[in-house]
Amino acid sequence: MNDNTTPLSANEYDAEINKTIPFYSTFYEQTIDVITQCNFPSIHWLDLGCGTGALEERALSYFPTASFVLVDPSEKMLDQAKNKLAAYDFKYICGKSTDISFDEEFEVVTAIQSHHYMSAEERECAVKKVFHALKKDGIFVCFENVVPSDETIKKSELLRWGRYQQRQGKTAEEALAHNARCGVSYFPLTVDEHIKLLKKTGFHAVHVFWVSYMQMGIYAIK
Ligand SMILES: C[S@@+](CC[C@H](N)C(=O)[O-])C[C@H]1O[C@@H](n2cnc3c(N)ncnc32)[C@H](O)[C@@H]1O
Repeated sequence: MNDNTTPLSANEYDAEINKTIPFYSTFYEQTIDVITQCNFPSIHWLDLGCGTGALEERALSYFPTASFVLVDPSEKMLDQAKNKLAAYDFKYICGKSTDISFDEEFEVVTAIQSHHYMSAEERECAVKKVFHALKKDGIFVCFENVVPSDETIKKSELLRWGRYQQRQGKTAEEALAHNARCGVSYFPLTVDEHIKLLKKTGFHAVHVFWVSYMQMGIYAIK
């Protein structure tokens, strides 16, 4: 069994993720750019499903005084993050986004490719917890796998994503096996369902700022 919900083990994650998800490193750059635009005087930042801490490593060059709380249900992923960020005194929580309980503490909450592992009920609970954790005018930035509502387009986009993976060196069988995880190992929403859920939870402004292949970047302001 793997040591986290992704098909990659924690120690191979950083090297392999770009071969699986197109533009992955751009997700971090775009997330940092969106947060830069907010102009917060100081940043207390909650990262849900932090994985190996790769986002923090990059974000610290832009926000050197930011203080992070890193959450992930995988001990192995958290170990990688602790190792990478050993020079900093950050807080680590081994748990799911549905386990957190914060009240208006953060300027920023991020969930980068980590919330599509939840069921519809868990996701709704997690988004409510994010809303509570944010201060007023705080921002939730999220990247996730999404699914087109049209079945024909969904099939076609999965094949297109598979071709990307093959160009990065996966075999046709490996690419097919990865794409068979859609709706089985992870549970993507459509873009419209995301917007609806965020607005229903109480966020007053919601904006989709990135879409590529079957991934989306969305932010919501409390
Ligand atoms: C694809 S990785 C992304 C890691 C990191 N955010 C990044 O961008 O590199 C997904 C992460 O989500 C975590 N995860 C899985 N289920 C979760 C849940 N219910 N709540 C929070 N994190 C979860 C996994 O352990 C894994 O570390």
